[in-house]
Amino acid sequence: MTDEQFAQLRSQFQIPENMVYLDGNSLGALPKMTQSHMTDVISRQWAGELVTGWNTCDWIDLPLSVGDQIAPIVGAAAGSIVCCDNLSINLFKALAASLEINNARTLISVEAGQFPTDSYMAQGLASLVGPERCQVQSVDVDTVTVGDLKHSAVLVLSHVDYKTGTLRDMGSITKVAHAAGSLIIWDLAHSAGVVDISLAASEVDFAVGCTYKFLNGGPGAPGFLYVNERHQHSQNPLPGWMGHARLFDFEADYDAAPGVRRFLTGTQSVLALNAVASSLSVFDGLCLTELRQRSLSLTAHFIALWQKSALLQGDSVIVTPLDEAKRGSQVSLALDHAFPISQALIDDGVVVDFREPNLIRFGFSPLYNTLTDAERGISSLESIITSKQYEAPQFQIRSTVT
Ligand SMILES: Cc1ncc(COP(=O)(O)O)c(C=O)c1O
Repeated sequence: MTDEQFAQLRSQFQIPENMVYLDGNSLGALPKMTQSHMTDVISRQWAGELVTGWNTCDWIDLPLSVGDQIAPIVGAAAGSIVCCDNLSINLFKALAASLEINNARTLISVEAGQFPTDSYMAQGLASLVGPERCQVQSVDVDTVTVGDLKHSAVLVLSHVDYKTGTLRDMGSITKVAHAAGSLIIWDLAHSAGVVDISLAASEVDFAVGCTYKFLNGGPGAPGFLYVNERHQHSQNPLPGWMGHARLFDFEADYDAAPGVRRFLTGTQSVLALNAVASSLSVFDGLCLTELRQRSLSLTAHFIALWQKSALLQGDSVIVTPLDEAKRGSQVSLALDHAFPISQALIDDGVVVDFREPNLIRFGFSPLYNTLTDAERGISSLESIITSKQYEAPQFQIRSTVT
């Protein structure tokens, strides 16, 4: 894609003037068309159709139709993704289904140091079903071997590490898990929309993801669950009426719907799903390989600027791999005073985030970030460190969300 085409893409997003938005890895920017689509959904669909909208506007099928929009972005077949609930709940469903499929084994392997909710979900499931049915072990996914997984029913790990931005090799780790007789669940929170992903070709068993990050679905937008066709007969541990084969027959007993629909539980937010549907249409006609190239050129530019700065080299360390093949779509710096510096950056219009203990994440969306954003990020950081502006009392205050 040409620079002009990327500028045209950026113009489809509502980004405040003078703001350098480098946090699309946490919450994606608002596509302008989503704003107008939501006005239509509220005023025409909700106000005008009321309950009949479930049929006339096809609200009932939104979790599947939005899933079908996500499918090409993550290399999955149509009919293998539901968009619903959130990543954590979808992970719980995938973990329980995996234990049932691989029922000669009782061990869930979790990536050591991964985003905590993934381990909490595994621990919660283990305490619910008891130690005879499930235990949890941590593994180092950068060195994981067939031997480490020889008793594992399922391994869950992140495709891109949320702190360091390290990208894992989906194909080869999936092969290791399968060679050990383990299933695998990939957490795509930080890779969906910015990395080429081939869930089907890599023979992944399950995957979970968020739509509020690089897919721009909006704050608190639903998660998604990918279920490989060979596992679509398995059981949803939270079998609600929305996953029933004949939901409006109101039968006393549960009979799972065919296909991935059985992984639905209750009623989903029609407003939230509409926002995701609209935001995903930005991806129509775009090539993920080109978006990946754009993402790499943005992070590479940021890294090159950091490498030219004696000040930043003295004061910070890049914890994100310099090797492109191992880099997601963010650059994380470890440095002293990371929290107040992150607040001073935001105050200067460069929106980043802080992660314990000493990391600032600079996230780059190929859809709307520019090389100039990388330059502004670096120059603002240099001037904040040089002036010690971050020492001001207002930058020491921690809100609930960092
Ligand atoms: C890697 C990773 N996994 C899981 C989650 C949690 O997702 P949710 O709150 O939608 O369940 C996040 C949220 O940021 C995340 O970054």
